[in-house]
Amino acid sequence: MTNSDFHGSGLTSALSKPVTVSWHSPSNIALVKYWGKTGRQLPVNPSLSMTLSKAYTETRLTASPRETKGAVELDFWFEGKQNAAFGKRMITFLQSITDIFPWLEQVSLKIETHNTFPHSAGIASSASAFSALALCLCSLDMELNGILLDENEFRFKASYVARLGSGSACRSVFPGLSVWGLTKALPGSSDQVAVPVTEIHPVFTTLRDTIIIVNSKEKSVSSSEGHNRMIGHPFAEARIKQAGRNTASLLEAIKTGDKQTFIRIVENEALTLHALMMTSDDGFMLMHPETVRIISRIQEIRKETGLDICFTLDAGPNVHLIYFENQIEQVNKLIVEDLDIKIKQNIRIDDFFGKGPIKVG
Ligand code: DP6
Repeated sequence: MTNSDFHGSGLTSALSKPVTVSWHSPSNIALVKYWGKTGRQLPVNPSLSMTLSKAYTETRLTASPRETKGAVELDFWFEGKQNAAFGKRMITFLQSITDIFPWLEQVSLKIETHNTFPHSAGIASSASAFSALALCLCSLDMELNGILLDENEFRFKASYVARLGSGSACRSVFPGLSVWGLTKALPGSSDQVAVPVTEIHPVFTTLRDTIIIVNSKEKSVSSSEGHNRMIGHPFAEARIKQAGRNTASLLEAIKTGDKQTFIRIVENEALTLHALMMTSDDGFMLMHPETVRIISRIQEIRKETGLDICFTLDAGPNVHLIYFENQIEQVNKLIVEDLDIKIKQNIRIDDFFGKGPIKVG
């Protein structure tokens, strides 16, 4: 799949009235981490993630008539307010995909977007934000140009476009579990788009993710900067091989229902991600003392109780506690009593294996 596979055309006649489309698109949590990129947003290793349910972005995209053709015109609203800073990243993105959607230069655009999770929760919102926008762009493209894509073609195109906005976003257009990046372990996998994982033991459809907010401040080093630090990283080659092996083992565990292998790999990936940050040139640390306390305690509790729980981490200090639906009560009790987390507002978000994006307008 290349860019030219998705090359669209401009409008043959001027737009007569505004056209609006809306999508809800969820965030996702990587179980095998994408860390390091090359070329036009291509991953250096395969990654595997779970699409969430409750943490999503709702985006409304409106194209209105405009007099003359030219650079992208955008009016950007986030959480009910005009937001110039976010709008700037969006304009840069939209301008970079006018080869795919030439009509972007022939209309005036308005984006209205909001998240179901508080912006201050410190959860990466680029996956849900860019997947929601990509889905809106693909829907609008179909309406404006009268193109008909089947469900599969539509999802892959949206995944491709989402990837150009933010790598991890390409995995959010699929429900459940998806893989992004070429791997021999999954036929049909690609660096260009994510693909859904179809062989899933029923137990893995009951996966849950409770996000424990340790710190909600903007992180000191962005993901983009983190990806850059993988260029010339002394452990890059070993990491790329490890991600390939972990993806293959995780896919097998997911197929066969092997929870113990799943737990081992998910934690290995989280710790590797943060070890790579610490050992990069000009190394940095995103874990807080509270992060270390919680993840150590999760490992101890697993040993003491035999509960099927594990943790993963994003590029930040918050802990994702991963478990299965049949142990929801025990896990709930331990979060409150044993992990000794001071319950404040928004301190945790209870999420789960999601059904994927929904078109709402
Ligand atoms: C640690 O997708 O946010 O969450 O492509 O630069 O937008 P850009 O990076 P981004 O990186 C996500 C990194 C990660 C791991 C993952 O989601 O796979």
